[in-house]
Amino acid sequence: MKISIINGPNLNLLGQREPGIYGSQTFETFFAELQSKFPEVELDYFQSNIEGELIDQLHKVGFSSDGIILNAAAYTHTSVGLGDAIKAIDTSVIEVHISNTFAREDFRHTSYITPNAKGLILGFGMDSYRLAIESFIK
Ligand code: DQA
Repeated sequence: MKISIINGPNLNLLGQREPGIYGSQTFETFFAELQSKFPEVELDYFQSNIEGELIDQLHKVGFSSDGIILNAAAYTHTSVGLGDAIKAIDTSVIEVHISNTFAREDFRHTSYITPNAKGLILGFGMDSYRLAIESFIK
């Protein structure tokens, strides 16, 4: 099984960015943990701060991966293009967020991803990604 993780803007700074909200672990360290926890899964990881590159990556993996885990970060709340890209591809997308966006500012309560996603997992810290993998495996 092949699962692709796609992270959006500012998530390259995990570990140093607002640790009270996002924790103190880098995504690279966490990704290595995921790889050892799920040796049977072929995991790949892509991060970009650029909206069009995230869309290109969805197109790239969206016809070959068995599942996509997308944390579109701030673009979640603004990007019609990312929502349309999810509709355009074959592979199911699970939307994840590290924080509970519904417990934060009102503008974070809107998502252009959720209506097009298979499901939504949020508020469990980095563990949101693990839960999404478990869900694809089941
Ligand atoms: C986030 C939540 C978004 O509102 C925010 O813009 C992010 C991270 C999360 O994982 O909690 O950058 O997607």
